[in-house]
Amino acid sequence: MSNKPFVNEAVESTQAGFAKIYAESTPPWDTGKPQPPFVAVADQIKGPLLDCGCGTGGASVFFAARGLAVTGIDFVEQAIAMARARAAAHGVTVDFRVMDALTLNAWDKRFASIIDSGLFHIYDDAAVRQRYAEGLAHVLEPGGRLFLFSFADGPKAPGGGVSRAALQAAFAEGWEIESLDYAEGEVNPGFDPASFPEKFSLDIKMWFAVIRRIG
Ligand SMILES: C[S@@+](CC[C@H](N)C(=O)[O-])C[C@H]1O[C@@H](n2cnc3c(N)ncnc32)[C@H](O)[C@@H]1O
Repeated sequence: MSNKPFVNEAVESTQAGFAKIYAESTPPWDTGKPQPPFVAVADQIKGPLLDCGCGTGGASVFFAARGLAVTGIDFVEQAIAMARARAAAHGVTVDFRVMDALTLNAWDKRFASIIDSGLFHIYDDAAVRQRYAEGLAHVLEPGGRLFLFSFADGPKAPGGGVSRAALQAAFAEGWEIESLDYAEGEVNPGFDPASFPEKFSLDIKMWFAVIRRIG
């Protein structure tokens, strides 16, 4: 089963690859706030909320400041440490945990909503995407919604990106895709391509999907 990082296929694991990125660079996605499509639908995002692959916690803190009970998970310790510092600086409480998103199936927590801003598209293997989607279904209450922001497919997307058909396949059983549209993302203005370990195009099409758990 492949679980290769989109950013650097040479590193030993995705975790080591992301840890290196957080230690050595300001990642392009790390804007300190939610990507615009999440803000546009903020009223639909209910607590308890899971921010899956939360990075340094910009979205988690935004939704906690709106009064939601938020849990943020990421498998990079340094990202979670930065997220905890961000929450403290904003005077909000978020349950940040170092945790692998591919272990959601074994978790006893349940959420009304989940946001995924840039995690799903890391998985380039249909079986891994399926395992991740099953974990999301496990922790999402029936009727709850997943809000997902992902690379779309295209020549500039790392690994070729994610096609509409691939998203539909991953969320076919037990899910209803309520909307799946191209969306605009933002890049950290402090992003320095020279410090980033891989070539990264700033001109990548993105999807934003709202996906309801019906099973
Ligand atoms: C593209 S970044 C997006 C981070 C954050 N959502 C944001 O928008 O700033 C993807 C994040 O997913 C995390 N990640 C990747 N694979 C993961 C896994 N299996 N479990 C938990 N976190 C993971 C990475 O460490 C990274 O922080």
